[in-house]
Parts: sequence; C-alpha cells; structure tokens
Amino acid sequence: MTNYQIKTNEEYQQAYTRSVADPEGFWADIADTFTWRKKWDKVLEWNFDEPDIKWFQGAKLNITENCLDRHLKTRGNKLALVWEPNDPKERYIRYTYRELYERVCQFANVLKKNGARKGDRICIYMPMIPELAIAVLACARIGAVHSVVFAGFSASAMADRINDAQCSMVLTSDGLNRGAKQIPVKRVVDEALEQCKSVQKVIVVERVGWAVNMVEGRDVWFHDEVKEVSKECPAEEMDAEDMLFILYTSGSTGKPKGVVHTCAGYMVYAQYSFVNVFQYQESDLYWCTADIGWITGHTYLLYGPLLAGATSLMFEGVPTYPDNGRFWQVVDKFGVTIFYTAPTAIRALMGGDIEDVLSYSLDSLRVLGSVGEPINEEAWHWYHTHVGKNRSPVVDTWWQTETGGIMVSTLAGVTPMKPSHAGLPLPGVQPILVDGEGNEIKENGVEGYLCMKFPWPGIIRTTYGDHERARLSYFSTYKGLYFTGDGAKRDENGLYRIIGRVDDVINVSGHRFGTAEIEEAINHNEHVIESAVVGYPHDVKGQGIYAFVTLKDKPEHIDWLRAEIVETVVEKIGKIARPDKIQIVSGLPKTRSGKIMRRILRKVAEGDTSNLGDTSTLLDPTVVDEIKEGAL
Ligand code: WTA
Repeated sequence: MTNYQIKTNEEYQQAYTRSVADPEGFWADIADTFTWRKKWDKVLEWNFDEPDIKWFQGAKLNITENCLDRHLKTRGNKLALVWEPNDPKERYIRYTYRELYERVCQFANVLKKNGARKGDRICIYMPMIPELAIAVLACARIGAVHSVVFAGFSASAMADRINDAQCSMVLTSDGLNRGAKQIPVKRVVDEALEQCKSVQKVIVVERVGWAVNMVEGRDVWFHDEVKEVSKECPAEEMDAEDMLFILYTSGSTGKPKGVVHTCAGYMVYAQYSFVNVFQYQESDLYWCTADIGWITGHTYLLYGPLLAGATSLMFEGVPTYPDNGRFWQVVDKFGVTIFYTAPTAIRALMGGDIEDVLSYSLDSLRVLGSVGEPINEEAWHWYHTHVGKNRSPVVDTWWQTETGGIMVSTLAGVTPMKPSHAGLPLPGVQPILVDGEGNEIKENGVEGYLCMKFPWPGIIRTTYGDHERARLSYFSTYKGLYFTGDGAKRDENGLYRIIGRVDDVINVSGHRFGTAEIEEAINHNEHVIESAVVGYPHDVKGQGIYAFVTLKDKPEHIDWLRAEIVETVVEKIGKIARPDKIQIVSGLPKTRSGKIMRRILRKVAEGDTSNLGDTSTLLDPTVVDEIKEGAL
C-alpha cells in the first residue's frame, strides 16, 4: 500500500497541517509515488482571478501507464474489472490487469486506425458495458480527450455536447438494457448526428444484437475493427496540463458547460482521495454504483480504483431490477467490501420490504459511501443499520464535477463521523464559509456559502472553449475564492454539513440540472409562452422538478398538454429531467423590472404558502392567489 494512507486521526491532523503549511512539498511527496516519463519543474502555480492553475508543470506522463502498465508486474493476474450485467441470469465478465491492459491497447489501436489523434475530442455515448470503461481508457492512452455523455441524455442534448467540443468521433453501442427498459442507443446517435458536422467516424460496439443502421464510410463495427489490431499500444506522452477529459454539467445559466480536467493533477487527486476516504486495502472488492457518464463514475469507478490497483466492480443495471434486493445480491455474490452509492438509491430501497435487505448476509461489507446529494438522517441510519449492520462506517462524500474528486468527507473509521455531515476536509482542501458579501465567517456553528481558498490538484482548469465562463461561474462571485454554489454549516467541531445549492441548480436523484435549462426545453413546446422551474422536496429523488407554465391558448385537454410538455423536455434533455409537476398559470409573479420572483414559486412548490414574504414589489400581486389555489 502507498505510504501516504492516513491511518489515525493524529495522522490526519499532521497531514492536514502540513498540506496547508507546505502544499507543494505535501503534494510532491504523493506525486512521487506515480510513474512519470519526466518529473515536474514546478509543483504549483496559480491565481484564482483569471483563473490560471497549473499543477506539476513540465511533467510528462500518461495516466493509463499509471492505471495499467505499472501494475502488470505485481498485479498482472489480479482482477481489475468485474462486470455484472443487467440480467442476473447472464454471465458476469472479469478482466485481470493484464487482460484489461490488452483490451485498452486494442481499443486504442482501433481508434488510431480510424483516424483519432492526440488532442481530438471523442464523444462516448455507451451503456454500462465493459467496453465503456475500456473506451475511456483507450482515449486517454492515445491522448484523445474523452467527453462521456450519459446514455440517458436525448439526441438533442448529445448533439449540443458534441458540437460544443467539436468531437470528431463517437463511440457507442447498438442498444442497451437498463432494468426492464430497452433503449435503441445507436438510433439516438444517428438522430444526434443529423445536427453534427464535426463527426467523421462512429464506432459501434455490439451489446444487444439488434439491427442498426450503419452509415457507409462513417460507421464501423468494433468487432470487425478489432480483429486486425495489436494488443500493444504505446502510450502517448502527455504534458501534465494537457486535457484529459471534458464532462458536461449544468450551471445556473444557459447550456451545460464542459468542465475540463487535465492529466497530472486529476490523477494524483483521484488516487489520493480514493485510498484515504475509503481506506482501501489490497484485498478489497470495491463497488461504485455510479454510471461512468457522471463524474463519480469517472473518478471512483474507473480512474481512482485502477490507479490504486484495486478490483472495481461495474454494474449495468438498476437497484430495483429484477427486484429490490439486487444490490445486496450482488454484494453477496462477489463479496463486496466497499460499497459507494447515492442517497436516492437508498431512499428508493427504504420504501420496499425490509426483508429485501435482511435476507442477504452482507458480511463482506466494511465501508459504505454516499455521494451526489445531502443524505437525510433517516436514510443515513437505514443505510448504517441495515446495510452496514452498525459495523461499517458510512462516509458521506461531498464534491462536484468541478472538483474532480472528494473534497469533504469522513475518512472511513479514521476521522469523526456524524449522520448527515460530510465531515472534515481532505488534506490539501481549504474550505471557507462566507457571508453574502464574501466576508469569511470564522466561528463554528454557523452557516454560509461554501468556497475554497486554495487550489487542490483535481480542481477544474477551464470550461471548454469559453474560459471566461469558468471565471464568471466559479471565480468571480467572491474575489480570490472558488465558489461551489453550495451552502454549508460548520458544527462546533468543524465538521461540515452540506445544505444544498444556493443557485438555480436543482439536484434530482443526484443529477444536476439548471432551472434555466429545463425552462428553455419547456418553452420549445408550441403552446407555451413562458415557464419557471423550481425544485421541491421529494421523498426519493431528493428534489423534484416543479414547473409553472403560461400558455398561448386554453387547451381542451390539460392532461394531454402536460404529457406533451413532458415529452418536449424528454426530447430536449432526456427522461432524467422530466418535470414531476406542471402547473398551468395565467401569469408568473414578476417584479416591475420583469424578474420572476422564484422565492414565491419555491414556497408554493414546497406546499408552504402560509408566509410568502413581501409581495408588494410584484407587478400584479393577484397572480399569487391564483398560483396558491392551483398548487399541485
Ligand atoms: C451536491 C457529484 C450534499 C452538491 C459528485 C454539489 C452533495 C453537487 C454531496 C455536485 C454530498 C454532492 N452532500 N450534497 N455528499 N455530494 N452534492 O457535479 O450540491 O454531479 O454542488 O458531482 O451535488 O454535483 P455533481
């Protein structure tokens, strides 16, 4: 095991103190344990004003040599990836580090054969099959920038992302099974590509064996291409600050932005945080249930565990298929020791029969993790008691697409754990709470806006193609600070509890959406004049989507119209952004300057209309009564 694993609370205190006093020395010692073609000239250079952040400048490396090649000698026959299919009757697949290395090299050669080069952007739109993991690593192997788009986004959302990054290639599959659903993945790609000029090649992996349309000269089957390529592919030498990947995420304004992570810093932070938060041991069987289409899948299904030489389990299905016991059946089947999932999954399973959990032994589990949204106390206790048998610590990990890795979390069994609290910051992470004016709140036991005052190696470098947007989104709200968009409370002992977003971002089942993005989709419906979207508390999803909509004409069938609006959102974004409630109103509460007063709409959506606060600045206060009466 790496010598930087923190094993006691005292060691945590020492590491933390050093990381603040001497950040360059601290991270250099950790980086020293990686494989470099050339070491860095300078550990860190930064300013948050532009922003301009460079870690390990001058270093040369390839992250896949650290994920694969360096393990071959000592872990060549150890399992790297275990894949459990959607259907429990289908056989699982496993790859040793040597086998995974060969598969990645082969896929990399297929990419090269089809014209991919260092620096090209490649969109990956694939279900959770082993080839998805392999494809991501293959891009990194040849220095192409991967942009994974979750295979639940619509053709239109995919097209936006492909066009923004000007991707030259798409890697996909014929179709997918997720739970009882079947999705014609390639058809969605075909539809997206009608709007994308930059894409020259589409490589299709066969998963379900459905007939698909193959465009001559553009589309090729992976199984044809792979026949003639070698199982060796030299890794491309990358600069520390070369782009590793783009991952799109929603902000409070406009279209999703392409968060950019670079090679060296991301790598160092992914492994360091993985090993410490989960207290990883060589013999662990580690399972992160996230889809690789999200940042959690990038850092903690793929890169972090492989960098550490762990065995990582990848699951194609959903927690409720074929029944509510699926997660626990898989835990017992493979002897999973570390299990990392989202509160929304826990809340969904809590609603079922308790026997669905109690009928499995779950003896192998040692550490439980939670990510993506605040975990309410009830869910925390259910998880800790019934899954963890009051024996396994629960780590509530707070972080973001933009942070690259976990920022605030209990280190399992090492630092203090408290229900619904993420805990203390990781070494190298310097959070601060500020008030509305950006003044630091120094005392404990208070709430504020969560910011970071010093860079960590996994921090976002830019937003693809629009550096100014990165500056405006994260570095301009409070001067000299990275602003997270979250509100947080720090308790008497310095433990952080994340309250949630303070901007117009809603978190639905752990997935981020900008309210503006959903409104824009709704407004595409021909009957709609305008809309306002807010989040409201939802038992399973954490937040639900509540839309207030004004119409051009009075429809005959209100339910049909609602269904049509839902369909418009599904088309523009995807099923995951489907509004839960749509209230038709004759007007939205606006101020005289035309700004929608969301505060009022949020209260209505929450079902709390007793005190709507001051409504005197509204242009037409009477709309409020109508909205209150029509609340769903
Ligand atoms: C929220 C997911 C409370 C938060 C890794 C953040 C959380 C946003 C937690 C990022 C947590 C994530 N407790 N809230 N443990 N983890 N969040 O980019 O609002 O998909 O800003 O990254 O999710 O979502 P993202």
